Amino acid sequence: MSANKESWGSRVGLILAMAGNAVGLGNFLRFPVQAVQNGGGAFIIPYLICFLVMGIPLLWIEWSMGRFGGKHGHHSTPFIVDTMGKNRLWKYVGVFGIWTNIAVAAYYCYIESWTLSYVFHSVIGTFSGLDQEGVANFFGAYVSLGTSTLGVPYEPIVFYVLCLLLNTWILSQGLASGVERVAKIGMPMLILFGLFLAFRGVTLTAGENGAINDSSVGLNFLWTPNFDRLWSPTVWLAAAGQIFFTLSVGMGTVHCYASYVRGNDDIALNAMSAGWMNEFVEVVLGAAILIPISIGYLGVDRVSEMVQSGGLGLAFQTLPYLFYQWGDLLGALSGVMWFGLLFFAGITSSLAMGTPWIGFLQDEFNWGRKSAAWSFGLFVFLLGMPTVLFFKYGVFDEYDYWAGTVSLVVFALFETILFSWVFGIRKGWREITSGSDIKVPGFYKFIIKFITPLLLLWVFLGSLFTPKG
Ligand code: PHE
Repeated sequence: MSANKESWGSRVGLILAMAGNAVGLGNFLRFPVQAVQNGGGAFIIPYLICFLVMGIPLLWIEWSMGRFGGKHGHHSTPFIVDTMGKNRLWKYVGVFGIWTNIAVAAYYCYIESWTLSYVFHSVIGTFSGLDQEGVANFFGAYVSLGTSTLGVPYEPIVFYVLCLLLNTWILSQGLASGVERVAKIGMPMLILFGLFLAFRGVTLTAGENGAINDSSVGLNFLWTPNFDRLWSPTVWLAAAGQIFFTLSVGMGTVHCYASYVRGNDDIALNAMSAGWMNEFVEVVLGAAILIPISIGYLGVDRVSEMVQSGGLGLAFQTLPYLFYQWGDLLGALSGVMWFGLLFFAGITSSLAMGTPWIGFLQDEFNWGRKSAAWSFGLFVFLLGMPTVLFFKYGVFDEYDYWAGTVSLVVFALFETILFSWVFGIRKGWREITSGSDIKVPGFYKFIIKFITPLLLLWVFLGSLFTPKG
C-alpha cells in the first residue's frame, strides 16, 4: 500500500484535467482525417453510436474502477485490477496497460515537440514570405533531421528532448500543482484559440484573400451523409478506434486520474462533463479548422488526395502557408494560435500518459514522485528515439497502429469483462452510481454487461481480419 495521499485541488480542476487528458492531438489532427478518409458524413453516424455504446460505458467503467482503486490506496491499473479480479493474472493485464502508455507517449510526444517548435517558428516569422513549397520543404527537412533554419544541429531532437523535459518537470511537481495547474491554464487557452480559428474556418468566402471556395464546401464535404459506406466494417472500426483514442480509454490514464477523486465524490456526472467537453472540441472545433480552411484554398480533390496519406501534412505543411493569405499579422497570429492550441492539447494528454507509470512505481516500489517522473521521461526518450530518427520510414505509423489502436481495444475488452463479469455488474453498477450527482439511465446496466463487451469483441476480431491501413 502506498503512502501516496495526493488528490485533486478542486472539482473544476479535476474536470479540466480529465478533459485535457481526452482533448488532444487526436481531436484536431486524427478526427478530421478519419472522417474524410471514411466517407465524410458516413463516418459521423457510426462515430456517435460508438460514443454512446462504447465510449460512455467505458468512461463510467474506468472512472469507477479508478475511484474504487483509490479507496484501497491504489493509483495504477495493475493494483486496481488486482483488487477487483479474483485471479492474480489480472495484475499482468494491468501492467500491459502501463506499457501502452509509454509506447503511445513515445510517438505522441514527438508530434507534440513539433508543435512546440512550430510555435517558436511562427513567433520568429520563419514561415512569413515563404511560398507553399517553401513551407512544405521546411517540414520535409525537419522530419529528415536536415539542416535547421536556426542553425541548430538536429533541431527535432533538441525540441523532442525539451518537450520531454517539460513533461517530466510538470509531472514531478505533483498532481494538483503540476498536472492540474497546467490543465487550468491550457484548456481555456485551447478553447479560446480554437474558437478563433474555427470562426475563421466557417466564415471563409470564395475570392477573399485567394480562397477558391466558401467554407460551406469543406463543411458540406464533412457533414453531408454518405449512406453508401455506412455498412462497411472498416468505417465502423475506424469510428470505434477514434472513439477510444479521443476519449483516452483503454490505457489506464482515466483509472489513474480517477483514483485521486476523494472518497465517494461523484464520478458519473464528472465523467460526462469531461467526455462531452471532448466531443464538443472534436466535432465542433476539430471539424471546423483543418478541413474547411484547406478545402477553402485547395479544393476538395486536392485535400482528399493529401489526406489519404494522413493529416499531419495538412496541419504542418499547408496551414502555416494558408494562414499568411490573411495578411502578415493575422498569418503570424493564426500560426501561433494553431500550434499553441495543438501544444496545449498535446501536453495535457501526454501528462496523463505519465501518471499511471508514476502511480505504479509509488504504489509498488515506494518511489518518490520526482524519481518516478524522471524515469518516465527517460523511458519515453529511449522508446521514442526510433520514431524521431526513422520517421520517414513509417516507424511512426507502426507505433500508432500497435500501441495507439490495437492495444486500446484489447485492453478495453479485458477491463469490460473484468468489470461486468468478474467483479460483477451488480457491484460495478453500485460503484458507478454511488455518490452520483445525476441519475444514470438504468438501461446502461444492460449495455455495459452485454453490448459493450460484444461490440468490443467484434471490433477486436474485425481489426485482426481487416487489412491494416
Ligand atoms: N485522447 C488523446 C487525443 O485525442 C490521446 C490519448 C490517448 C491520451 C490515450 C491519453 C491516453 O489526442
